[in-house]
Amino acid sequence: MSVRLFGPIRELHTLAGDRAPRRGESMRTTGRAESAGIAVSNGVVLDVGSWRTLRRRFGDAEQVPIEGELVTPGFVDPHTHLIWVGDRSDEFLRRCAGESYQQIAKQGGGITSTMRAVENASVKTLAAETLVRARLLLQLGTTTVEVKASYGSSVESCKHELDALARVLRRTAQRLVVTFMGAHVVPPGWSRSKWIRAIIDNLLPLAAAHPAKVSFQDAFCEEGAFSVQECRRVLRAGSRLGLVPKLHCDEFTALGGVEMACSLGAASCDHLLMSGQREFAALARSTTMAVVMPGTAFFLDKPYADARTMVDAGCALALGSDFNPGSAMTPSMLFAMGLAVSRMGLSVDEALCAATVNAAHALRGAVPASLGTLTPGAPADFCAWPVDSLNELVYGFAFLRPSAVFISGRKVC
Ligand code: NIG
Ligand code: FE
Repeated sequence: MSVRLFGPIRELHTLAGDRAPRRGESMRTTGRAESAGIAVSNGVVLDVGSWRTLRRRFGDAEQVPIEGELVTPGFVDPHTHLIWVGDRSDEFLRRCAGESYQQIAKQGGGITSTMRAVENASVKTLAAETLVRARLLLQLGTTTVEVKASYGSSVESCKHELDALARVLRRTAQRLVVTFMGAHVVPPGWSRSKWIRAIIDNLLPLAAAHPAKVSFQDAFCEEGAFSVQECRRVLRAGSRLGLVPKLHCDEFTALGGVEMACSLGAASCDHLLMSGQREFAALARSTTMAVVMPGTAFFLDKPYADARTMVDAGCALALGSDFNPGSAMTPSMLFAMGLAVSRMGLSVDEALCAATVNAAHALRGAVPASLGTLTPGAPADFCAWPVDSLNELVYGFAFLRPSAVFISGRKVC
């Protein structure tokens, strides 16, 4: 068995702790160790601990010096719309001039404008542009990324998105988790009932059997998108095919999607900007992760989700980027952590937990059990950072990048 020893690491955060999603106090334990090392075999963590002890135990192992001072697990981004083409900078500037995201959507912009661009793109272009973005995420320390196929507007273009994702899967070093989101908005040229029928009869079966290995399904529960009843119908149909539900809810309006998603055993409820005590209580009672994405509130200039109250109410909280061309033009999980600390009242420890181990729980079943930690048996996915402390890392959220990123113990950038 060949073992490699990574270190010496000045400060290591292993996120060792509960196997279950972390809530409350357990979100504040990062497993900090000084003068530490990581022993890796077959891409998996064999042991972590003091550099001295590891050197004694694995005397013959190849040593790999770590360039950064501080090491964390690689980020897990549990919510992106990474696959798209086209440019919506015009909409960004219209919003800067005072128009709202919903006003622009009503005038044919927003999600439908990206749907049109995707409809006209080849599988090759879709894959190439997505790969460039995946690479960017890697450089920012995201070693696992969830991607929603969410801009299909016909059976054909949904298939193209999934075909492109299958290509990306073969070409990227990252762990990629695929979600099918047919119920994003009703595409141009479709009636509401026909599109829902198409999702249930054609698109979900296509997604469930596709080589892109789709694990999850998602829907946008919102005024102007889909109602609670419509989302429930779609998610139930997908569940029967083995696709685990997720739900976009309470982004602009609290419609009751949270309670519905929790009752279906959804892996996560995402956004939660408008959620309050009722929704927090439902999440806290459930096994559903609460995924908040402060980049969206930042880009739409809206009040942030009340993450502080969610953690205090016992919700298992995760952070995501929501990276998409409309509401969240930010691929950086460190940016999300910085906003979580500076705008949402999370502690630095809670933000790291939410961006790693808890984010992995929002992808349950589709990723290795201890992903997001650096504990024996976990994938050896980690980042070295050119800083002295976690505080400094978060303080540098607007510009810092890792000095090295490893996936399964292999340096990927
Ligand atoms: O999560 N809310 C729905 N979907 C995305 C936005 C997608 C877009 O504007 O293209 C979101 O914010
Ligand atoms: Fe989203």
